Formats: sequence, structure tokens, C-alpha cells
Amino acid sequence: MKALILSGGRGTRLRPITYTSAKQLVPIANKPILYYVLEMVAAAGIREAGVVVGETQQEIRMAVGTGGDWGLKVTYIEQEAPLGLAHAVKIAQPYLGSDPFVMVLGDNILRDGIASFVDEYQRVRPNTQILLSKVKDPQRFGVAGLQGDRVYSLEEKPKVPKSDYALVGVYLFDHTIFEAVGAIRPSQRGELEITDAIQYQIDRDYVIIPHVVTGWWKDTGRLEDLLEANRLILDTLESRVEGRIDTHSVVEGKVVIEGGAELVRSTVRGPAIIGRCARIVNARIGPFTSIGAETEVVNSEVVDSVIMEQVKIVDIEGRMGESLIGKNVQVYRCSSSSATLRLMLGDNSQVGIS
Ligand code: TTP
Repeated sequence: MKALILSGGRGTRLRPITYTSAKQLVPIANKPILYYVLEMVAAAGIREAGVVVGETQQEIRMAVGTGGDWGLKVTYIEQEAPLGLAHAVKIAQPYLGSDPFVMVLGDNILRDGIASFVDEYQRVRPNTQILLSKVKDPQRFGVAGLQGDRVYSLEEKPKVPKSDYALVGVYLFDHTIFEAVGAIRPSQRGELEITDAIQYQIDRDYVIIPHVVTGWWKDTGRLEDLLEANRLILDTLESRVEGRIDTHSVVEGKVVIEGGAELVRSTVRGPAIIGRCARIVNARIGPFTSIGAETEVVNSEVVDSVIMEQVKIVDIEGRMGESLIGKNVQVYRCSSSSATLRLMLGDNSQVGIS
């Protein structure tokens, strides 16, 4: 069985990070989200993956290469524009051929992976199998109407949801999905929707079955969810110290200090990770914080955040939290005595000031 991994898209909800970077490569616990997805696919016994790429293809190709690091043979499939998940299926048909395939979104992480999902498909052999997760706010998601072990409807962000079961970004399809993606029309937002394609199958009595996930699932497309994924993943790390901790520093709980990193007169409260060659001086980090490689945090406190590579956070009074900071960003206290804030922010940046 092949996998189809969707790594194109616009990533509007993660701007400005996604102006310069693919959202699938935002690091969680200092590892790109897409790497967790590739691990998950490989762990399900899959050896061949088509990776759908768009504008950010150069970066994705650089990060994933041949897929050999995961024991996968990766083929890149170029999507001319983010015209929808069903559009991605359509253009991948020549690569996928007529065998069943599993489709996963390149920015979704599942604690327990997809192996049991794939196994169930092999046992039952429906036309389509969808992965569902019970959620508190189904209005925000694609929601399945369920009758016994059959799916009888799918609705995108319904006002009155038919169940609490939301579509997780993992699907298993046989070749009949190609008829559906060929027949549907673009939605109001101009995309070929995978929910419409599956609804097309439901209307024609194809067999669609649900599989409910037990462990957590996170779609990292929004800041809140990305930070939640960071918290969940950090919590699963094993403590490891490869960097240097001076005698005035304190490390508590589950903490990873990568090689070349240095802690000087600082406290790191786990779960947290301090990246390769980072410098933490007279600072407080964590809990639930990822500090990227070669980043410096000096005279500052950072909690519950993802700070990427080569960032400088210096002399910040108070505490920085619930933040996502892109590469090479500098956050510092200016020397002027007035209460003026000095900012240089890209389009769609967000700054919260108290
Ligand atoms: P989404 O998060 O639904 O869409 P998006 O990436 O355009 O983000 P936003 O809504 O913030 O603008 O996409 C889910 C995944 O599928 C994501 O990894 C991107 C990928 N994708 C494609 O590869 N091709 C597409 O046409 C679309 C819509 C998404």
C-alpha cells in the first residue's frame, strides 16, 4: 500500500511563519511536524509515499529528500495551486494507480499512529475508511453522521452537528475515490473538498466505515493547536542532557538539552527541550517550551512556547508565553528610557502587549 502525504496548502492561519516556511516544517519539540507524519506512515509498514507539494516544494524536498531516512521511497507530486484535498487525490492518480492508499495530512499528528487504522482496512476492505476523533466542539470540524458501523453523512463545520465525531486528517481509499474526485465541483471557497467526494460515494452506496482514534490527535494548522501539540509531544520525551549546565543552573522534570547547548545561571522546568548550541543565560525556560538550535535567551523568561532557530530573546521583563517565534527573530528591550515600543513586524504578525 502507498501513502499520499499532503504537504502543499496555503497555511494562511499560521502567517507570517508560512510566508517564508512550509507549515509542515514548523518544529514541534525541535523536529518538523512532517517528520512525525513520515514516522507514522513508515510505522504502519508502508514503504512508498507520494508527497504532494506546492509553493514550498524546495524546502520540503530539502527536508525529506528521498525518504530513505524513514525507510520510504518518496515521490514528489506537484500541485499547481492548493485547490483542495480532493484535487490532490485527483492529480496523484497516475502515481497511485489502482491499489488502495492511505492519505494523511502533512500537518496532523496522532499519538498512536495509523497502523491499527491500516490493519482494520485490510481486514474489512471497505471502499473508504475515515478516521474520527471525539471532540468537544464539532462545529469547528468536518463531522460524520454515524449509523452502527456505517457513515451516512459528512458535513463540513455544521451548525447542528449529527455527532461529536470529527474527521481526523487520515483517510483510506480504494480506486473508487477517483470517480468521486472527478465528478464533484469546487466548493464556495473554490476547493475540491474531500468531504464532498466521500459524500458522493455515500450517495451511491459505496461502503464507508469509520475508525475512531483513542489517543490524542492534533491538527497543527492553528497556533493554539500547534502549542498544544508541542505540550503533548514534549511530555513524551525522555530526559537527556548532552549540553553543559553550570553549577548555578537548575533543571527540573523531563528536559532535553541537546549537544553544544549551554545553561548559565538559569532554570529549565520540564517538559522542555533546549536545541543544539542554544545559549540560555540568566533565564527561566519552561514548562512546555521548545527552544531551537543556536537560539539565545538572556535575562528573560519563556514558557509554553515554540521558539525556532537562531532567535535572540534578550532582557524581556515579565514573561513570554503561548508564543511561536520564527527563525532569526530578535526580541529585546531597547535602551531608550521612553515607553515607546520599537517594532519591525512582517505582514500578519501578532503581538500581545500587557
Ligand atoms: P489545510 O490546513 O486544510 O489548508 P491550508 O494548508 O491551505 O491552511 P489554511 O487553512 O491555514 O490556509 O490543509 C491540510 C493539509 O493539506 C496541509 O498539510 C496542507 C495540505 N494541502 C495540500 O497539500 N493541498 C491542498 O490543496 C490543500 C487545501 C491542503
